[in-house]
Amino acid sequence: MKESSWLNLPSLSLSVKALFTGYILVTGLGLLMAGAQIMLTHGMADGKLGLSVDDIVYSYYGNREGSKLESKLNGSMKGKATPEENLTMIKWAREGAPKEQWEPKIKPIVMAKCAVCHTDRHMSSLPNLTNYTTMQEVAHIDEGAEISSLTRVSHIHLFGIAFIFFFIGLIFSMAVGFKKWVKALLIIVPFAFLILDIASWWLTKINPGFAYLVIIGGFGYSLAATVMLFTSLYQMWIMPLRGQFSDENTWKNS
Ligand code: HEC
Repeated sequence: MKESSWLNLPSLSLSVKALFTGYILVTGLGLLMAGAQIMLTHGMADGKLGLSVDDIVYSYYGNREGSKLESKLNGSMKGKATPEENLTMIKWAREGAPKEQWEPKIKPIVMAKCAVCHTDRHMSSLPNLTNYTTMQEVAHIDEGAEISSLTRVSHIHLFGIAFIFFFIGLIFSMAVGFKKWVKALLIIVPFAFLILDIASWWLTKINPGFAYLVIIGGFGYSLAATVMLFTSLYQMWIMPLRGQFSDENTWKNS
């Protein structure tokens, strides 16, 4: 059954069409920019260009395998100290780099084995590891997004994007020729995906297995929004040109 529209897009007055079209163009541009922004910020999180599941895991869950210190001591800095000393430093990093152990246990190793290169005096581009704060930074385990930044970004997204979808949906609700339920579904789907998307940020923070949901959520609402935006433009401008009737009752799905 086709729904009788409360208003229909092909027969709107020119000024309302102009208003809707302006909104659609700017919103479409906004969606593209949002996509570019995601690619540039999260997309590079794993050090490679392009958005991948790893990027999302790095952004929200972090890299809890270990700190930079640990990965260097297992990598390019491996031979600088003895295996026992490396282990002592790795354990210290895993315990959260406690200050009490810095002077008695860690600093002596650093002074003896690392300071040759890692001080202010030599090769100034290298971090000065004889300084506790610097060492604490390289020993820090990356736990991904902070709760405070997640709550901030979540509420901005929920309010902001709901606002955008409301108008996209409102305009699209005037589209003609759709089955009642298809139209209602297209209108509700972006909201559902939005909630899924935000929920999956939090779930990924807890468990990296949920990273896929972030992509599905974001992709889902972008797709539904794109369908609505293009359909609305088509019905406002192309349909009347093609002489397809603007009156709901006589409009044929040809
Ligand atoms: C012979 C000089 C030399 C010594 C000794 C040395 N390093 Fe390095 N270190 C480097 C250089 C060069 C780099 C940069 C290249 C790289 O990351 O492999 C580096 C990088 C690092 C980094 C990564 C810094 C960053 O911000 O990217 C860490 C952490 C580190 N070293 C820890 C240590 C520790 C701990 C020791 C002592 C056990 C040590 N290094 C001993 C030369 C040295």
